[in-house]
Amino acid sequence: MSQLHVVDHPLIQHKLTIIRDKHTGSKIFRELVSEISMLLSYEVMRELPTEEKEIETPITTAKTKVLSGKKLGLIPILRAGLGMLESVRDIVPAARVGHIGVYRDPETLNPVEYYCKLPQDIHERELIVMDPMLATGGSAVASIQFIKDRGGKNIRFMCINAAPEGIEELQKAHPDVDIWTCSVDEKLNEHGYIIPGLGDAGDRLFGTK
Ligand code: URA
Repeated sequence: MSQLHVVDHPLIQHKLTIIRDKHTGSKIFRELVSEISMLLSYEVMRELPTEEKEIETPITTAKTKVLSGKKLGLIPILRAGLGMLESVRDIVPAARVGHIGVYRDPETLNPVEYYCKLPQDIHERELIVMDPMLATGGSAVASIQFIKDRGGKNIRFMCINAAPEGIEELQKAHPDVDIWTCSVDEKLNEHGYIIPGLGDAGDRLFGTK
């Protein structure tokens, strides 16, 4: 079974309260989603391997650590995942970026991939899939399956707000994928929104309705 990591840091919780507030406008919402994502990604990447490197400081030589050449891939799920991407990319600029978009076929209710562009060497990369909301889990489960079908192996999932139902679905479908979130809420409502949640993250990020 995959591990669930709830990152309960005061800075994150403070910012999360502001984005949950319906009076928070799109500009602040976008900025805070970005800041929260960067803070959260710090935990998501905690276990990345390092190796020793000898360098010269202005004073002497020193043996210090650098990331040990593990290649990273960041994959936002369209479209709300885009709001998480840039701040994470800022701290790991060598990471390659893939994009994936899925929608639910209204008749079959099966998830359908409508866009997918991933780094060519995806099988060699540590992949971080991101979407602010893990609600029913449908898009996360399907997106991760599409990524695996193309050779993706080492996959982590990060979100800002999760419902117990989505966590269960994702853990059941992909027991090898650990999940990082800032909050686990009560449940989903009948429309698939997280309660209390923060509304439609994509709409709030992009100012649509
Ligand atoms: N997607 C969202 O943006 N919000 C929810 O509450 C559920 C899914």
